[in-house]
Amino acid sequence: MFLNKGRNILLLSKTILKSNNRLCSYEKGIILGIETSCDDTGCAIVDTDGNILGEALNSQNLIHLNNGGIIPPIAQDLHRNNIENVVNEAIKAANVSIKDVNAIATTVKPGMPLSLTIGMKYGKHLCRLHNKPFMPIHHMEAHALTARMHDKNIQFPFLVLLISGGHCLIAVAQSTDKFLLLGQSMDDAPGEAFDKVARRMKLKNLPEYSTLSGGQAVELAASKADNPLAYKFTIPLLMYKNCNFSFSGIKNQLQYQLQKEEKQKDVPADGVIPGVYNICAGFQLVVTRHICHRVQRAMEYVFRKNLIPPDKQTLVVSGGAACNNFITKGLNIVCSELGYKIVRPPPKLCTDNGVMIAWNGVERWKEKIGIYTDFEHIDIEKDAIIGESLIEDVENEQISCKWIKLTKLNYPQSKWDDV
Ligand code: KG4
Ligand code: ZN
Repeated sequence: MFLNKGRNILLLSKTILKSNNRLCSYEKGIILGIETSCDDTGCAIVDTDGNILGEALNSQNLIHLNNGGIIPPIAQDLHRNNIENVVNEAIKAANVSIKDVNAIATTVKPGMPLSLTIGMKYGKHLCRLHNKPFMPIHHMEAHALTARMHDKNIQFPFLVLLISGGHCLIAVAQSTDKFLLLGQSMDDAPGEAFDKVARRMKLKNLPEYSTLSGGQAVELAASKADNPLAYKFTIPLLMYKNCNFSFSGIKNQLQYQLQKEEKQKDVPADGVIPGVYNICAGFQLVVTRHICHRVQRAMEYVFRKNLIPPDKQTLVVSGGAACNNFITKGLNIVCSELGYKIVRPPPKLCTDNGVMIAWNGVERWKEKIGIYTDFEHIDIEKDAIIGESLIEDVENEQISCKWIKLTKLNYPQSKWDDV
């Protein structure tokens, strides 16, 4: 349940370098991070050099899978039951004492209120008990910046695409706490759409898929398609010259085709349709094309407004749905056409975890921002936009794009009717 990458902690904490030390422009430290915004109870201890000293994660995925979705009070109970163990495991794995920790970073927004509350209360409780400062963390900012721990060459500003079960946005990260929001989902998040269609297709009734998240299940099923173009879906928002996303329409198109086929083929109530692999492939393809369109327009907007130096163009992709290799392959094509370097943290850092929260604490610690010794007034927030919204300005630009062809995605029968 935990990973231990601890080393030389005591040494490090006893030789804290001050900000005027010539070796280091920031005060060295160790941050403990707590994540409970949705259905994962996570904790990690990360130092200011980006070493993960210890981490622990309790995923509720299987329980919610069997319940047909997340039931917030159940998620809360599970967080409540697990938080203490998870934090203790991370501390033990790091081989540190909580006395060696400089601050406690905790997700306070956005997320499910019942889940967020448990992490925030526990984080503050630890701060009071051990006289530590509290660092409230924005979950999406944490997703966005984790790539900088993984790849130290990523400098601000960079473009970031976050695709998860609860969120979907594209933004320019300008600094630790400054983001320009270019687009977001108008309805479902992509991971949510994957989860809903996997459930509707009853994939979990097939043993091989029974323990996978919706996104993992659809990706695996799609990889077995013999005719990925058998089911056609319309790409959303083609007429809208903005960078917003929409996934619920695709989900409805799939449900309509599924219903029709279930009737035609007389599929039993708990059965899957014969064309299940192909329909998954068609769904994954249209999701990929839609995401690539919005990212391409965002890149053209960034270029027009000179928001990222042309020789330093980087796209960071994170969030649970970023684990999807097919989507990433599509994004790779767009990036290589438009001169962007693409960075995707390893899958375990793309999904929710304590490391990303601790790392966000580290970034803030180095900048000396968002560190509170007086924290009682800080509360959770269910909805919290990331940064400043430029969504209207993007739309005002009315950017037309000549869509980059994704033919290199290499389907076995690669006949694309590109838009
Ligand atoms: O980031 P995350 O752990 O939690 C949220 O903040 O939402 O993401 C979980 C989501 C789930 O909806 C899951 O189905 C999706 O990420 N996901 C995937 C894949 N692996 C996980 N979606 C598409 N393809 C995947 N391979
Ligand atoms: Zn997340």
